Amino acid sequence: MKIKDKTILITGADGGIGKTISTMLVDAGARLIAVGHAEQGLAALVDSLPGDHVYVTADLSKPEGIQAVVDEVHNQGGIDVLINNAGVAPFGFLEQQSTAAISAQININLLAPMLLIQALLPMLKQRSEPAIVNMGSTFGSIGYSCYSAYSASKFGLRGFTEALRRELADTSIRLLYLAPRATLTPINNEQVIAMNQELGNKMDQPKVVAQHLIKLLQNDKACTRYIGWPEKLFVVINSVLPQVVDRALFKQLPVIRRFAQQ
Ligand SMILES: NC(=O)c1ccc[n+]([C@@H]2O[C@H](COP(=O)([O-])OP(=O)(O)OC[C@H]3O[C@@H](n4cnc5c(N)ncnc54)[C@H](OP(=O)(O)O)[C@@H]3O)[C@@H](O)[C@H]2O)c1
Repeated sequence: MKIKDKTILITGADGGIGKTISTMLVDAGARLIAVGHAEQGLAALVDSLPGDHVYVTADLSKPEGIQAVVDEVHNQGGIDVLINNAGVAPFGFLEQQSTAAISAQININLLAPMLLIQALLPMLKQRSEPAIVNMGSTFGSIGYSCYSAYSASKFGLRGFTEALRRELADTSIRLLYLAPRATLTPINNEQVIAMNQELGNKMDQPKVVAQHLIKLLQNDKACTRYIGWPEKLFVVINSVLPQVVDRALFKQLPVIRRFAQQ
């Protein structure tokens, strides 16, 4: 698809990855509906971009937040592309995560994309080249220690994307899934960055993720992209020989535990 002149809604628009994607989409000629939590960050983002863009402040973990986004899409006369990018990823033992933190991960990372897609599908169907991008993760294919709730949310998002892609296969809507590996954004605190460095887990700049997203949108035949090597290989191995990945991750466990205890 051509990005020029498309109206694109992106959630988490003022986050580390969202901001970079927003800038690249506008550079490619898109008009944005930027969705996020914090008015200040969204206003600053929209002001910094050339062209005529709007923003919506919404808490996507709440039904009224979802409704505010849907209402604004109606006001703007619809969208061509929906990018479900907002997310949270608290690092820590399951036993130490509050019920609220676990619920938030499921609500923001999984339920919000499902509800937004459900509400916006009728409007997307009216467009000539509609597309939906769900921001997954390597942890949507490889369950990782101290990210159990997050992994569950991203496994769910991947399954939802696959099922809905099949359900909509006889329509013009493209259902896309992008799975970044660790990326240097505020979602990862200093502890996680230090842990990744010690474990030798590579971390990308947000620009890498944004470039992959643009390529995914532009390539009409593609539907899924995993970012990073050897993560891509581990995803395949984990699906056919999970015990090999169990063994590799077992060796990492003492280090992960040490950082999670801090
Ligand atoms: N960075 C990584 O290592 C990595 C790796 C794989 C996948 N991903 C995925 O990439 C996506 C973007 O993450 P990021 O790295 O850019 O993180 P980030 O910098 O923390 O950005 C996350 C964005 O989501 C927004 N958000 C969080 N909760 C929200 C809520 N309840 N309602 C509305 N907006 C909310 C945040 O707004 P506030 O900041 O105002 O709360 C922020 O704009 C996420 O889906 C994440 O799971 C990230």
